[in-house]
Amino acid sequence: MMKFHGTMTINQHDHLSIGGCDAVELIREFGSPLYVMDEELIRLNCRAFHKAFIEGFPGGEVAYACKAFSCLAMMRIACQEDLGVDVVSAGELYTALAAGVDPARIDFNGNNKTPEELRYALQSGIGRIIVDNFTEIARLDAMAGEMKLKPKALLRIQPGIDAHTHKHIQTGKVDSKFGLAIGTGQALEAVKMMGEAANIELRGIHCHIGSQILGIDTFTRTAEIMAGFMAEVRGSLGLTLPELNLGGGYGIYYTHEDSPSPPEAIAEAIGKVLAGAFKRNDFPFPERFSVEPGRSIVGNAGTALYTVGSVKHIPGFRTYVAVDGGMTDNPRLALYQAKYETCLANKMSAPDEIVASVAGKLCESGDMLIRDVSMPRAEAGDVLAIPNSGAYQYAMASNYNRIGKPAVVLVSGGDASLILRRETLEDLIRYDLVPGHLK
Ligand code: LLP
Repeated sequence: MMKFHGTMTINQHDHLSIGGCDAVELIREFGSPLYVMDEELIRLNCRAFHKAFIEGFPGGEVAYACKAFSCLAMMRIACQEDLGVDVVSAGELYTALAAGVDPARIDFNGNNKTPEELRYALQSGIGRIIVDNFTEIARLDAMAGEMKLKPKALLRIQPGIDAHTHKHIQTGKVDSKFGLAIGTGQALEAVKMMGEAANIELRGIHCHIGSQILGIDTFTRTAEIMAGFMAEVRGSLGLTLPELNLGGGYGIYYTHEDSPSPPEAIAEAIGKVLAGAFKRNDFPFPERFSVEPGRSIVGNAGTALYTVGSVKHIPGFRTYVAVDGGMTDNPRLALYQAKYETCLANKMSAPDEIVASVAGKLCESGDMLIRDVSMPRAEAGDVLAIPNSGAYQYAMASNYNRIGKPAVVLVSGGDASLILRRETLEDLIRYDLVPGHLK
């Protein structure tokens, strides 16, 4: 049985309806495959994080990690819901600024921001640069000096946490390309260097321990370590840092195996641990405390709709239900063995009768969307829906096999608005050039 999220229902035609829009009609109007974003659910998620972390903490801040799903319309929603934005590239920064996000509420993360990106961030007057390594400290100091600026910055710390999630989305361990570890002494050394840098205003520390983390205890252990490190910094360097950012990583429901905790429960648990740790160390509670949720804002709000093209049963082996998208719009199974549920949006009351694998249309055996899932008997022409597709799917889409990126619509109250146009064949040759000798 598939779990329904947000405004999903079954309408009188026995079709899946999202935001009051019939999924089968959406495909007819906007084409297939199609990503459907439930505006109401995105807003509810924004509000839950706002309530838990902005209203729940003195100096609380929530920066939507827009890498999960980034476009002008999404940034507008984040703005309207009073969230900040976490960006990791010039492209994301450009999008955020173009959408009208207040630069002061933009944080810039990343392990290797290019000099051009750093300059752009400084020129734009963004809120915080989250510095990753020694090279970047020196680069930022020199560049800010040249530009006669003194940007606010945090240092990305490696707390040494082994988060229980797929190894490709774990980032809190010592051996990681992100940040500097407490355990090796490099974190303290870097804090000292940043504190002494003439053109950097070191405000605090940051960490992000991984993604799709379901247990609250991983976050509370991290909070404890980070608070302890702030006290250590004061002890060793005499610096009382006023800001702490714990990143994102809050897991969501993909299948019945996942039981995520609501933001308010996570915030409460983290708040308790932080209060205790700071009190024990006689350290003032940070003036600014931030988190950076991405997946948990948009993941459940997105549904991918595909059209079934063929069904192949291999006796004694497996049934393949092939759809008109694949790893080009969702590489998550190929990358992280991700799991999903599914349904046929045009026959919602059909019972699950088969166990099948949903295959994409790319020329690659690994191009699978779901392995061995219970589903109704599918046939060509059916509309196959994969819920929980709002995060890191469209955002990671590619043009492999010269497949255009799908369209994305935002649905609400029976209206569907196109927020990302489908790539056309002309779009696919837009960057191609033919040198003279080939003409
Ligand atoms: N902050 C930082 C510094 C991050 O690197 C990330 C995600 C986030 C916040 C937001 O994490 P979230 O709340 O969304 O878990 N493509 C992978 C996920 C990669 C996450 C990268 N960093 C996936 O599809 O599962």
